[in-house]
Amino acid sequence: MSPEISILVTPGWKDYALLDTGNARKLERFGSIKLVRPEPQALWRPSLPADAWDGADAFFDAKPNEGRAGEDDDSWGRWRFARQLAPEWRVRIEDVTMLCRFSAFRHVGLFPEQAPHWLWIRDTASRLGAEKPRLLNLFAYTGAASLLAAAAGFEVTHVDASKKAIAWAKENQAASGLGAAPIRWICDDATKFVAREVRRGSRYHGVLLDPPKFGRGPANETWRIEDGLMPMLSDCARLLADGPAFLMLTAYAIRLSALSLLETARDAMSTPGGQFQAGELAVEQAAGARHLSTSLFVRWTSAGLQP
Ligand SMILES: C[S@@+](CC[C@H](N)C(=O)[O-])C[C@H]1O[C@@H](n2cnc3c(N)ncnc32)[C@H](O)[C@@H]1O
Repeated sequence: MSPEISILVTPGWKDYALLDTGNARKLERFGSIKLVRPEPQALWRPSLPADAWDGADAFFDAKPNEGRAGEDDDSWGRWRFARQLAPEWRVRIEDVTMLCRFSAFRHVGLFPEQAPHWLWIRDTASRLGAEKPRLLNLFAYTGAASLLAAAAGFEVTHVDASKKAIAWAKENQAASGLGAAPIRWICDDATKFVAREVRRGSRYHGVLLDPPKFGRGPANETWRIEDGLMPMLSDCARLLADGPAFLMLTAYAIRLSALSLLETARDAMSTPGGQFQAGELAVEQAAGARHLSTSLFVRWTSAGLQP
């Protein structure tokens, strides 16, 4: 039987819209700010006229990567502003407020395509049969998933190698009025942390991981998805609670297909029972009824937990 590959789509929400795509760029609105950023997947023609694009507030102009290891070709460059803008602005998702900033490598501190995962985790909190379900969020960045999960009742362990990202996530926590939410903030190498948790016999009802293609731990440990993913997933599988549990993996800017990611997760986790789902995360475009593929995912749910 052939495995089923599915597309998980976010249509955007009040504070986020993918307005248009094309000519290897995307036009988005984050709250009140419109951005134009490189988008190598968008080979097609834009749907909106040029003046809709020209009217954006900020543009990320890519420049060649010059052979730096690990980064996407279009990550390097700099922001150009059409008018004077505050360096930070607020974007709401459900009950969470994310502070967006014009950071290096074209990002603003929020990956909207992940929203279907975040909302699924939120909706699953009450189905895990635990008074205080535990979520491990690896490569957790500015904390959107951690905050939405904590607001839904999870005790969250948030792990990221970057002190700056953790500080930003804590600012998002304060901006969201979730100061008292049970989140453990851990600045560590994800591989080392997970191995330590296995030795300690820790267990989680959910594990969420969104590893980059290439990254560095706080002590300069090297993360390469091709080498690190199998051992990481097999350790994560050992951390999953007996009974209702889930694991969600996202990957982007890699050569693997969704099917290869699925087979990797199946082999690494060698989990008896449960179900695997795999496919792409996509964002629905407001103009022109298109979908932009952003990343790949695999989701494992234990027997008895609806995928
Ligand atoms: C693209 S972000 C993940 C986005 C996040 N899941 C979200 O949706 O907001 C990748 C993160 O991995 C972190 N990272 C890179 N290498 C790491 C490592 N070896 N251990 C832990 N975190 C790492 C980076 O600091 C960065 O915050």
